[in-house]
Amino acid sequence: MDFQEFKEAIYKKKGINLSGYKEKQLKRRIESLMNTYGLKDFREFLQALLKDKAKWETFLDKVTINVSEFFRNPEIFEKLERDVLPKLVEGKRRFKIWSAACSNGAEPYSLAIIMEERFPAVQYKITATDIDENILNAAKQGVYEERLIKNVSPQRLKKYFKLEPSGLYSIAPELKKHITFKRHDLLVDRYDTDFDLIVCRNVNIYFTRETQDKIYRNMNRSLKVGGVLFVGATENIMNYRELGFDKLYHWFYIKKDHLS
Ligand SMILES: C[S@@+](CC[C@H](N)C(=O)[O-])C[C@H]1O[C@@H](n2cnc3c(N)ncnc32)[C@H](O)[C@@H]1O
Repeated sequence: MDFQEFKEAIYKKKGINLSGYKEKQLKRRIESLMNTYGLKDFREFLQALLKDKAKWETFLDKVTINVSEFFRNPEIFEKLERDVLPKLVEGKRRFKIWSAACSNGAEPYSLAIIMEERFPAVQYKITATDIDENILNAAKQGVYEERLIKNVSPQRLKKYFKLEPSGLYSIAPELKKHITFKRHDLLVDRYDTDFDLIVCRNVNIYFTRETQDKIYRNMNRSLKVGGVLFVGATENIMNYRELGFDKLYHWFYIKKDHLS
């Protein structure tokens, strides 16, 4: 069995579409995991993954890479808070956000903190999705190590976090009320619609160019006209016009019109 056949088998048996991921990086990560199990053959590895739940979960972790933190790239979150959101929220009583590939929840909770503080009169809802059920369970729990909250100001820390006896920080229940966590695979599942803001950061870097375009196009359809797509610090959509966007600022793209 070669790598191509392995990817096809994973899709057939588990519904995970590995063909959208950048091949070299993905193969390197998978082979390094095979090495740790002392396996060289993709067929054997596939069998091990299908038989052993723990191995399957470790495999998913390797493929997905769950690194995240609160207010990741704080200067860009400041831009969101100071320049993007005031205009975007203006005149709205309801506001719908999607945090796509939300990992451990640090991203949607950061967004909720901003909405609570800056727009207390607005009813906001955040849909937070990820492919990885385990990380979504952690996100729902909302308990974090200190290193993940280094960008949280002391005032916000006091207001929205509780230091537990374990030394971990748990997130305030009032933020949780606004967030719905659910599993969603960006490469396979249907996209919801009518969002004012979509935050999709640090996941598209793992996908091929073609897949990235497909995702951005789908996200364009998921936004309201005038809605904004917020991408990761190392991400830059060169062909944004073709995909139905205008550039608002670096990292922020605004939906011009419905794509045909
Ligand atoms: C590096 S984290 C980014 C977290 C957060 N957006 C941030 O910027 O801090 C990438 C996340 O993408 C998720 N992911 C990977 N492939 C995915 C897919 N096909 N569909 C949805 N989420 C995916 C992973 O499970 C992981 O939690």
